[in-house]
Amino acid sequence: MDYLTGFGRPLGTTAPRAAFGTDAPRLSLNGTWRFRLAPTVAEAAAGFWAPDFDDTGWAELPVPSSWPMHGFGRPAYTNVVYPFPVDPPHVPTDNPTGDHRLVFDVPAGFAGLGARLRFDGIDSCGRVWLNGVELGVTQGSRLPAEFDVTAALRPGGANVLAVRVHQWSAGSYLEDQDQWWLPGIFRDVTLLARPAGGVDDVFVQAAYEPDGRGRLRVEGPADAVVSIPELGLDRLPAGTAHDAGPVEPWTAETPRLYELVVATATETATLRIGFRTVAVTGGILTVNGRRIVLRGVNRHEFHPELGRVVPPDVVRAELELMKRHHVNAIRTSHYPPHPAVLDLCDELGFWVIDECDYETHGFEPVGWRGNPSDDPRFAEACVDRMRRMVERDKNHPSVIMWSLGNEAGVGANLGRMADWARERDPGRPLHYEGDRSCAHVDVYSRMYAGHAEVDAIGRGEGHVPHLPFILCEYAHAMGNGPGGLAEYDELFDRHPRCQGGFVWEWLDHGIRRPEGDYAYGGDFGEPLHDGNFVIDGLVFPDRTPSPGLTELAAVYAPVRLNVGAGAVTVRSRYVFRSLAGAELRWSVTVDGGPGAEGAVPLPVVAAGETVVVALNDMSDKSGSGAPDSAGSEAWLTVDAVAPDGLVLGRGQVQLRAAASVPGVPAGAGPRRDGGVIRLGAAEFDPVHGTLTRLGNLALRGPVLDIWRAPIDNDRLGHDPVADRWRAAGLHRMTHRLLGLELGPDALVVATRVAPAAADRALLAWYTWRTVGEAVELTVRVEPAGDWDVPLPRLGVHLELPADLGAVAWFGAGPGEAYPDSRTAALTGRYESTVDDLTTPYVYPQENGNRADARWLTLTGPDGHGLRVEAAPRIDFTARRWSTAALDAARHRSELVAEDRIHLHLDHAHHGLGSAACGPGVLPQYELRPEPATFTVTLRAFS
Ligand code: GAL
Repeated sequence: MDYLTGFGRPLGTTAPRAAFGTDAPRLSLNGTWRFRLAPTVAEAAAGFWAPDFDDTGWAELPVPSSWPMHGFGRPAYTNVVYPFPVDPPHVPTDNPTGDHRLVFDVPAGFAGLGARLRFDGIDSCGRVWLNGVELGVTQGSRLPAEFDVTAALRPGGANVLAVRVHQWSAGSYLEDQDQWWLPGIFRDVTLLARPAGGVDDVFVQAAYEPDGRGRLRVEGPADAVVSIPELGLDRLPAGTAHDAGPVEPWTAETPRLYELVVATATETATLRIGFRTVAVTGGILTVNGRRIVLRGVNRHEFHPELGRVVPPDVVRAELELMKRHHVNAIRTSHYPPHPAVLDLCDELGFWVIDECDYETHGFEPVGWRGNPSDDPRFAEACVDRMRRMVERDKNHPSVIMWSLGNEAGVGANLGRMADWARERDPGRPLHYEGDRSCAHVDVYSRMYAGHAEVDAIGRGEGHVPHLPFILCEYAHAMGNGPGGLAEYDELFDRHPRCQGGFVWEWLDHGIRRPEGDYAYGGDFGEPLHDGNFVIDGLVFPDRTPSPGLTELAAVYAPVRLNVGAGAVTVRSRYVFRSLAGAELRWSVTVDGGPGAEGAVPLPVVAAGETVVVALNDMSDKSGSGAPDSAGSEAWLTVDAVAPDGLVLGRGQVQLRAAASVPGVPAGAGPRRDGGVIRLGAAEFDPVHGTLTRLGNLALRGPVLDIWRAPIDNDRLGHDPVADRWRAAGLHRMTHRLLGLELGPDALVVATRVAPAAADRALLAWYTWRTVGEAVELTVRVEPAGDWDVPLPRLGVHLELPADLGAVAWFGAGPGEAYPDSRTAALTGRYESTVDDLTTPYVYPQENGNRADARWLTLTGPDGHGLRVEAAPRIDFTARRWSTAALDAARHRSELVAEDRIHLHLDHAHHGLGSAACGPGVLPQYELRPEPATFTVTLRAFS
């Protein structure tokens, strides 16, 4: 099988060209095919390509598909390493080989025309026969391949297509992207009529000139004529430059498209084009002469049930979801996407870095020995990949940069790819992160640089190339996180050369399991795998937003509002579009209750402009005139809302702080009563000094709690903090009662909280008083001994009856928030349930914290419950399983509701950071073990 080890070169394919629609006949060959999987090439069916081969005993398989998602073989996940020996160009003998057959009728209309068979993606190598005639071999999984089938095709009759797909080929060495290994014909298969003298290829170069005119040059067949009816351009000759007159430019903010028609005597092609000019000038990346900021995400193509096949409606919905969350840029990590994705990017408006299907990361663990990037035998395959991407996607206005690939080390072949692309398309800058010398690129790109380094780069410190700087990956969105987004965004705003970045990554690549949750690496018995490192997206596998995306939307918001009592400063971060038609919607709430609201139209705020808008009538509503205002807290919230209802920015200001709670006379003091201690409505266990009953509520606690179920950012990366936490025993603290003091008006419980085998401790004093029907608890904590690790959290834990499932609070919300991820949380009054407060991270970990509650209630169906009041604020987490159970679980389905609710009231949390891959928690968000005091009041109500 020489073609398998032929250094990744395709055989027998025709010259790559752009994908566009024409009036020539075409036939989709997607559908149900016959399929047989063999474990090795040798065991595949001999002669299966013969038209009369009997495949009646074969299985059926949809095409396009990733066959392991349909019960044939199994998916496997590795990040960096190859799941086969590093021995290029050889492949394992055990090489799953899927034979595919389709019998199809070709309409008579194809007669007399040329024809091509197009595969938009075969992973990793496909050998193709039509009607028993061998056409050739394709490698380059995420790239198109076409074969000339003019001679083999039988128009007006039945045809037999046979495709043998091998999971492994020499091309696999060039496709070591961090994702599931999933073989198959996973993109469309199409038969295309090719009339003689037709429009085989078109290269549209549509620039936007500083004077507002378009400049158009269309390469195509020599006799082709070009028209843009909307601009009155009619039958211009191809191959020369034309002044297109005044045009509206294409930008990601204003995705203006024009229909362009290219015709020869025998074929008419129609494309949607946009006029725009990309340049790097003076170290700044510009589009149409203006500096842009990439507020981007990395997007892989994955579906939890279908693998690499993502249905068109799912793609459109996910790109619209990105737009609604103010994502303006996509890096197509790490290969060109399905061609229709770029049509949508043109239409909806995204800045796209189109990345070549090229990664050789698995050579890093062997010291980059034999890296294909520097092996002349792979040169042809490397350039072929670049050529196929550029030729396919060259007409998309959304594509503003080409990327040579990802994590492929350094070497001459990268230079060859770059040279070829520059020569072919001088209109787009080049990107590649893996070569710090920036030898072949126009932008300085890095991944996971920390805030301080980005700041230094922005200030031009050190040996920084004089190029625009972007983070092609940052803010690793694995599990609960990322933290620190707002701080990055501020750097992109501050330093002209820091032009944004792409969060890693958009989507969790979980595979749906019958248990109702998602599989990750290792769940299919892979001997070598990288666990849940493939679950690192801003959206869950079913593409519902995780809190990370909600936070990102608030941080990426194009409009910044600085809300004052009577006026709002509105700063537009748009570069090209105005805020015409937008309005400010404001509301004033008192203690989070319903209040006054209104809207004022915004003046036309030009791109990049800042204006101050007075909010005259609302100051009355905020004043003392409001009902129930005594001692209450008032907030003004303002949203900038686009005409289509999209919130472009939000801001809040506190108009009046709550008056401090008047001193409440203490009730009766504590007393011993039989085996218990009583204090007002509270009953305590004298052995542990903890509450056992409050009014009619049976409960247990509160006890000091510092443990959280480590999040991925605690567990992974270099020097994981969770390892230090566990080494310090923070997950197994014990509580020793030092003493109970029954004073005249207070019960003081003194404890020492410490892990076995260590001499460090936290001393905790719980002081209880009665306040009417309620009890007030003040917790004072003091570290003793040597503490060299931050604390995961600092608070108390209590167990409540399981039926108190309805939750309400006045504080930050509605979603979860942590110290370094709380831009999206606004102060208000919110309602939820214990079940809904939980965030369903694929890999169980700490989640669901609601920040800064002034009060919260947990209520049962019959109206009884617990009210907690904070002085002044407390974070809380409520769930139906313990932190220990959450810590022990590896999949969601292992979390089983207990017969109680675990309520955590937290004075503070350690931040999230993004240390799973990148910087840890910023110093200001670390929770240092220091003396602390906090107070809550607990009341049972009915
Ligand atoms: C980067 C890589 C990505 C992904 C990420 C970690 O190094 O380019 O593909 O592996 O790390 O999730």
